[in-house]
Amino acid sequence: MLSTNRGDQSNETSTLNAADYLDEDLLRREKQMFRRTPLIVGHSSEVSEAGDFIVRELDNRSWLIVRGKDGQVRAFLNYCQHRGTRLEQRAEGNCKHRLVCPYHAWTYDSAGSLIGVPRADLFPGLDKSTRGLRAGKIVEKFGLLWLTQEPSKPNQQESIDEFLLDLKHEFAALGMADMHVYFDKTRDLQANWKFPIFAFLESYHLAALHKESIGEFFVQNVAHSEMHGRHIRSFVPRQNAVELADADLAETNIAEYITPTNILFPNVCMVGHPTSLSILSMFPGETAGTSTWRHMLLTPHKPTTEAEIAHYNKTIAVLDKMTYQQEDYWVSEQIQAGVNAGAIDEMLLGANEHLLKVFDNLIKSHLEPK
Ligand code: FES
Ligand SMILES: [Fe+2]
Repeated sequence: MLSTNRGDQSNETSTLNAADYLDEDLLRREKQMFRRTPLIVGHSSEVSEAGDFIVRELDNRSWLIVRGKDGQVRAFLNYCQHRGTRLEQRAEGNCKHRLVCPYHAWTYDSAGSLIGVPRADLFPGLDKSTRGLRAGKIVEKFGLLWLTQEPSKPNQQESIDEFLLDLKHEFAALGMADMHVYFDKTRDLQANWKFPIFAFLESYHLAALHKESIGEFFVQNVAHSEMHGRHIRSFVPRQNAVELADADLAETNIAEYITPTNILFPNVCMVGHPTSLSILSMFPGETAGTSTWRHMLLTPHKPTTEAEIAHYNKTIAVLDKMTYQQEDYWVSEQIQAGVNAGAIDEMLLGANEHLLKVFDNLIKSHLEPK
């Protein structure tokens, strides 16, 4: 692969239609697809104790994710079934198995059941067992919380193993359940949700865009990619990758030589670094030209020494702030500005950018018909 200096290429140029990234109807259909798909919404450690909860905002809806007395994690729409008030106002905490609505104090337990109605005599015929919180499907697997907001087939729910196919072996080997969430931040972006993902699908931009940050570490324009069902697995070699030829692979941390990236359908870029792992999630925004992005950085354990903390703070400075925020995500907003200005009809993809077309088609092929 390296000797050809070609890597992962097609033989032709292709195009993306710029108007797609202003298309509100396409965005609506993408959001429907998001509701039917397992999305990574957190790490198990964020709800480690019974009663612990986190709240996540997805597609203008608030989800309450809570660990019950039985150890099960559940997800509920965070709205009271009396008259719809948003139930839990905090972003995270421990609910002590009692979720109390601020309006009239209807109370739910951590399994979503309605357990308390003040002056219940004022609701003749009320059957509390039918007024529990509305649930989504959440699965805790590989140390991550996967939420499907609207499972398409209630009786034949896709398991995360089926969803990940071969990648499940790598997920099992990564040991994410024992990792530590060192950094977790969600930010707004003035760009279509797919643009930052495009940045992880080609290495053509490394030399120019990342010249001040990580560009020098990588071999330019070389990558190897493969499809695993709906997911794209790719490897971008670092400059030292040629040394792998003589390395004892059993004793080698491959991420020091090659950056493995999983583009998990539909919205996650999972990037392996030598001593940490980034889970970057993109979520569609109010309009086709807006989105939010979340960067969760997992470290093998909670850093305790000054040297470890300094090391990971440098990782945040170089990766999160420079490489992602000021470069990949910044340039996504630049592309959107060009599209918004009507300055470009089609984006031209060189031979080594063809995965963008693959990804764009993949998303389109999973939308409901118009
Ligand atoms: S709306 Fe929640 S108790 Fe009335
Ligand atoms: Fe990049």
